[in-house]
Amino acid sequence: MLNILVVIGTRPEAIKLSPIVLELQKHSDKIYVEICITAQHRSLLDDVLINFNITSDYDLDLMSDNQTLEEISSKSLTGISSILKQRSFDWILVQGDTSTALSASLSGFYNRVKVGHIEAGLRTYNKWEPYPEEINRQLISKIADLHFAPTLNAKNNLSLEGVEEETIIVTGNTVVDSLAIASDSQPSKHIQNILDTNHPNKKIIAITAHRRENFGKPLTMICEAIKKLANKYHNECHFIYPVHPNPNVQGTAYNLLNNISNISLIEPLDYFDFIHLLKQSFLIITDSGGIQEEAPSLQIPVFILRNNTERTEGIQNKVGLILGTDKENIITEVSKVIDSESEYHQYIQASNPYGDGQASTRIVNKLLSYPYSEFVES
Ligand code: UD1
Ligand code: UDP
Repeated sequence: MLNILVVIGTRPEAIKLSPIVLELQKHSDKIYVEICITAQHRSLLDDVLINFNITSDYDLDLMSDNQTLEEISSKSLTGISSILKQRSFDWILVQGDTSTALSASLSGFYNRVKVGHIEAGLRTYNKWEPYPEEINRQLISKIADLHFAPTLNAKNNLSLEGVEEETIIVTGNTVVDSLAIASDSQPSKHIQNILDTNHPNKKIIAITAHRRENFGKPLTMICEAIKKLANKYHNECHFIYPVHPNPNVQGTAYNLLNNISNISLIEPLDYFDFIHLLKQSFLIITDSGGIQEEAPSLQIPVFILRNNTERTEGIQNKVGLILGTDKENIITEVSKVIDSESEYHQYIQASNPYGDGQASTRIVNKLLSYPYSEFVES
């Protein structure tokens, strides 16, 4: 029996690891899987697990209000290590570049448990953008035994850094697997009400923002640009902004964008509802990583509130545009696609460079066929 611990901390980890958990559970004759949630996120994370009907075996319940990187990293490291000391696992699976993912990798290494890194090889090579994620994922790559790269670009980054070729597998991004499941769900009454009541006959523009490097002035400029656009396109567009619960985001968004008739500031949506919102949207404006990967499957242009992106395939394929956080640039570029159909249609592409919906199967097959005799316990 192959013993696997899947560690989940935040909303995007839950979204991208859920299809892998479901796939692992299909092989219960060969695989014993347990799930540890650090609960670096609480409600955001719980909502996703409810969507996918997944229950955790260990809940470290770590989240505190406005937590620091040090707090969440040290508490996760200690909590995950205590699980690895209680029970013997062959693999620990981590996803992406969060504090939980880095701590879980380190716990695996300290306890001599092999580490599988999902979504390996994404890079900006800028230490501060995204912060702290760029360094988190580079450190995880140093520790991991298997690197599940979502794209060829990601694999090439790892190869150039000297990671052994036979440990890198190009899988596609599991977010495309998740999206297929979410797309098949029925819209809840909650999202149906939001879509029906706020903006009949208007173009919906969905917004999300939460990155640490955008706190303060950049987020203020983003909100001011949205306010100006909402005013300019009062009759044409309705902006729906599920506001991330991070207090640094809530404060700015509610201060600057409250009580504007064609802007709806709403609570974060559960994952399935959010996908239903995206499906009805004309445009997505975001600093999120995962949303950049979802947009092409839904054929919706994604404008990115960052100075650079590790998801370069979308820019090359012209499904997205890097806006940065300059207020005037945001207004200019968003206005172009609202004003001109031909400008808009250049961003609609038929294929998704990030995956084909089979990533979870590839990952689980690789784990099942891994040459276990190579591992030597000291
Ligand atoms: C984290 C990740 C980031 C990821 C993002 C996804 C790190 C360093 N950052 O950033 O890579 O893109 O999650 O959203 O790992 N909060 C709640 N309820 C929740 C979740 C968060 O109230 O369910 C609030 C809390 O006050 C918490 C704060 O948000 O302290 C920040 O959470 P944290 O996970 O530290 O950072 P994020 O900005 O969410
Ligand atoms: N998402 C969600 N509800 C929301 C906003 C986003 O379920 O109200 C989903 C979205 O579909 C994507 C993921 O959350 O899959 C992205 O998470 P986030 O932006 O928090 O983190 P990132 O991807 O930037 O790490």
